[in-house]
Amino acid sequence: MQPSADSLQAGNYIGALMQWRDMQTEYDAFFSVVDLHALTAPQDPAELREKTRRTAAQYIAAGIEPSRSTLYVQSHVRAHAELAWILSTITGFGEAGRMTQFKDKSQKQGADNASVGLFTYPVLMAADILLYQTDVVPVGDDQKQHVELTRDLAERFNARFGETFRVPQPVIPRETARIYDLQNPTSKMSKSAESHAGVLWLLDEVDVTAKKIMRAVTDNDGVVAYDRENKPGVSNLMTIHAALTGRTIAQIEDEFAGRGYGDFKKAVRDVVVAEFGPVRERALELLDDPAELDRVLAANAAKAEAVADATLADVYDRVGL
Ligand code: ADP
Ligand code: NA
Repeated sequence: MQPSADSLQAGNYIGALMQWRDMQTEYDAFFSVVDLHALTAPQDPAELREKTRRTAAQYIAAGIEPSRSTLYVQSHVRAHAELAWILSTITGFGEAGRMTQFKDKSQKQGADNASVGLFTYPVLMAADILLYQTDVVPVGDDQKQHVELTRDLAERFNARFGETFRVPQPVIPRETARIYDLQNPTSKMSKSAESHAGVLWLLDEVDVTAKKIMRAVTDNDGVVAYDRENKPGVSNLMTIHAALTGRTIAQIEDEFAGRGYGDFKKAVRDVVVAEFGPVRERALELLDDPAELDRVLAANAAKAEAVADATLADVYDRVGL
C-alpha cells in the first residue's frame, strides 16, 4: 500500500490486510509500504517519512508478522528502482498508455501536472512483483490490469533474454470485500477521498468511529436487506458486518428481520469498534517506539534485499550490464 495518509481506512483493512494476514500461513509472503510509488503525487518530505512509518505500524498491528513474513519499505531496497528502469525499456509506450489507472489519475492531476513517474507507475509495480519470483499477487479488481502487464513483461523478458522471471498469477479476493464511503456509498472508501466524513480510519478514536457508523447514510424503507443498487448504504454496512464477523449476508438479513436501522447500526458499530480498537492501540504502541520499529523494518529490508538482489544480478547479467 502507498503511505498516502496518516491512517489506513476500513477498506484497506477489510479488502487487503485481513486477506494478507490469512495468506501468511500458506505463503512465504512479501509486503511493502510503497513510498516510491507515493512520489507520483506531491509529498511533503517529513510527512512522507512519517506516513511510511505509520503505514508499516498499521500492517503489524493488523497482524502482518515481520518475523514470519517480509515487511519492508520499498525505497529501502534499491533493486526496485533499478529493475523498474530496465523493465521500462521493454514496455511499449502505447501499452503503458492503456492502463486505466493512469488514465484516471492523469485526468485528475491534469495533463501538465501528471508526471512521467505516474505513467511508469505500473512498471515499478511490475518490478516490485518480479524481483521476488512471485507466484501469486493478491489484488483488488482495480489492480488486475497491472498484474496482466507484469505477466506480459515477465514473458517478454524471458523470451528475449532467457528464463529469468517466474510469471505471477493474480488472486482476486472474494467479491464482498469492497467497502464504500459511509456518506457516499456509491464511491469506494478511499484514503484520498475528498471528504473524510464517510471514511472509517483505522487510527480514529473509537468514539469517532462509532459516531461515523451511527451517522452512515441509509435509506427510508427500514429493511435490513442487501441490494447494492437501491440500498447501497445498508448493503455496505452489511458487507462490513459480514467481513468482520464471518457471517453470511443471509444470516445478517435473518438476524435483523423486523428490526430497525438503529439496532443494526449499533451492531455494526460494536463489531467495528471491537476489531479496530485493539489494532489502533497496538499501532500507537509501535509508533511510541520508532527506533524499534525502524530496526524491525531495516532487518526486513535486508531479508527482502537478499532475494531482490539475486534477481537483479541475474537481470543485469542477461541484458549485458
Ligand atoms: P486507497 O484508495 O485507500 O488509497 P489503495 O488504492 O492504496 O487504497 O489500496 C490499497 C489496498 O487496499 C489495495 O489492495 C486495495 O484493493 C485495497 N482497498 C482500498 N480501498 C478499498 C475499499 N474501499 N474496499 C476494499 N479494498 C480496498
Ligand atoms: Na490510493
